[in-house]
Amino acid sequence: MITRRLAVTVAGILAGSSVLFVQPAVASPPVEKKPAEKKPVEKRPVAEGYGGAVATVDLDASEAALGILRKGGNAMDAAVAAAATLGVTEPYSAGLAGGGFIVYYDARQKKVHTIDGRETAPRAMTATSLEGIPFDDAVTSGLSAGVPGSVAQWELALRRFGTISLKEALKPAIKIASKGFTVDQTFYDQTAANADRFKDFTSTAKLYLPGGAPPPVGSTFRNPELAETYRTLGKEGGGWLYGGRLGSEVVATVKKPPVTPGSTRNVRPGLMELSDLKAYRAIERPPTKITYKGMDVYGMAPPSSGGSTVGEALKILEVLPKVGMHEYLEASRLSFADRGKYVGDIPGVPLQELLSDGFAKERACLIGERAMPHPAPAGDPDGAYGPCPAASPVQETQAPVPAEGPETTHMVVTDSWGNVVAYNITIESTGGNGIVVPGRGFLLNNELTDFTFGPAPGDPNLPAPGKRPRSSMAPTIVLDGGRPLLALGSPGGSTIITTVLQILVNRWDLGMSLPDALAAPRATQRNTAQTQAEQGFIDRYGPELTSRGHSLVLNPEIGAATAVEFLPQGRLQAVAEPTRRGGGSALVMSERR
Ligand code: GLY
Repeated sequence: MITRRLAVTVAGILAGSSVLFVQPAVASPPVEKKPAEKKPVEKRPVAEGYGGAVATVDLDASEAALGILRKGGNAMDAAVAAAATLGVTEPYSAGLAGGGFIVYYDARQKKVHTIDGRETAPRAMTATSLEGIPFDDAVTSGLSAGVPGSVAQWELALRRFGTISLKEALKPAIKIASKGFTVDQTFYDQTAANADRFKDFTSTAKLYLPGGAPPPVGSTFRNPELAETYRTLGKEGGGWLYGGRLGSEVVATVKKPPVTPGSTRNVRPGLMELSDLKAYRAIERPPTKITYKGMDVYGMAPPSSGGSTVGEALKILEVLPKVGMHEYLEASRLSFADRGKYVGDIPGVPLQELLSDGFAKERACLIGERAMPHPAPAGDPDGAYGPCPAASPVQETQAPVPAEGPETTHMVVTDSWGNVVAYNITIESTGGNGIVVPGRGFLLNNELTDFTFGPAPGDPNLPAPGKRPRSSMAPTIVLDGGRPLLALGSPGGSTIITTVLQILVNRWDLGMSLPDALAAPRATQRNTAQTQAEQGFIDRYGPELTSRGHSLVLNPEIGAATAVEFLPQGRLQAVAEPTRRGGGSALVMSERR
């Protein structure tokens, strides 16, 4: 579902300054204006040191994680605390009504685990439930709200790998929601980009458009209702959502969104029932694993396509005699063709074959000196791989794919024991479905727009009862000789996959340092006619790539990654974005050994 999302993300942000604000029906501002000279808090994108490290998009979330580590908590405890905090300070990307994927290295077991907290379709949803619905209508609706996974994921993560209770893990978030945080340019821009739909829901306008407009940069934003929601969640546990009072309120909101009187928006109600919430489970799954240049790369298995698509592209690249940006784009193109045909939340995804050496060789054969014709057809991961197959004529046609926005978020956390968390969390679009649950201080997700709307016979990503929409989230952990070397991930819809892949290529094939690998200009090729690229990428690689048949088109900003590298002698290098999405925050426990 990448084609139409631009409307509520990048384009919305770019158009933010021209958004017309309408007075909300209810205005009770949780905002206190501060003197105009107050500057947003500075964030550092790179930190080096010892004893544990964190990188998130947000200083408050990074500090929340570090605070838990300092009190003796482990990386999983800290990651859950940071995720809950992001629900306060990055509420348009993360929240308790969203979902996500955790890839976790357990230092004691020397083993990588994953936890799938992806949202599910209600049982009443079928393959045709989204058919014919305009994408933008679905985005802002009850229909697109999936059964939330984050709370179940947090509880499972803490039970299996953590040392503290959910109540304890929620404390930093409760504090920030109560005391408030300083509105920065990113928060302002994201609110402004969403104002046109936020004003159409009384609960959302009340919270995020106090006085009818986005809270100004430098003001303090409080969310006391979310603080209270987290407090009660800590006391009552996940059952409060999965079958209890909070669950009933979520269902009521999904079925009858609180549309502002006089709004002309056609808001479709959802299909969720309390029984869907009762049935929800977070799931531990085996990770995907490939070897690349002797290193073990672990990722997220279906329902995410992150692990399989990053993994397949790396396997293809490993076969090639040299790797540069042309090869990166072509390997990505091929692995997206296979992702589209084979990967979804269905039985029998041919993961082993998609990630096999034989299939990689067969696919790599198709990469020549020039960009291959569009679209690349999917391969045949059937286990029988011979000499290079002749390129078959392409029958399909496919519309160019516009840019995806920066929705979703990613963090990395590591602790003094050597445990490592790579965690993607999302409510799908920036701002989710735009609907705050009245009185509870959080937005609902619109994750079900990640399904294929159809009609698309045979598509592995059509909706079905209880099914999880295919994700692109790609939290990734790399081990070298069985020890953690690197952990990374990014937001950005299906560009998550290419961002993670490009950072790995930058780091290993082009020999960049990790900070340079993240900062480098990006491009994303997802089996589309044109390759989207940031201006810096076009400037740097454009002439060579266009001479080789690539067509580059501007995407102003791709991804907002976070990563950590394990340097020799126990030194950690935590890295966030220097500028994308306003820059991220990297922290270490101690700068000295
Ligand atoms: N909603 C973004 C993803 O799952 O890829």
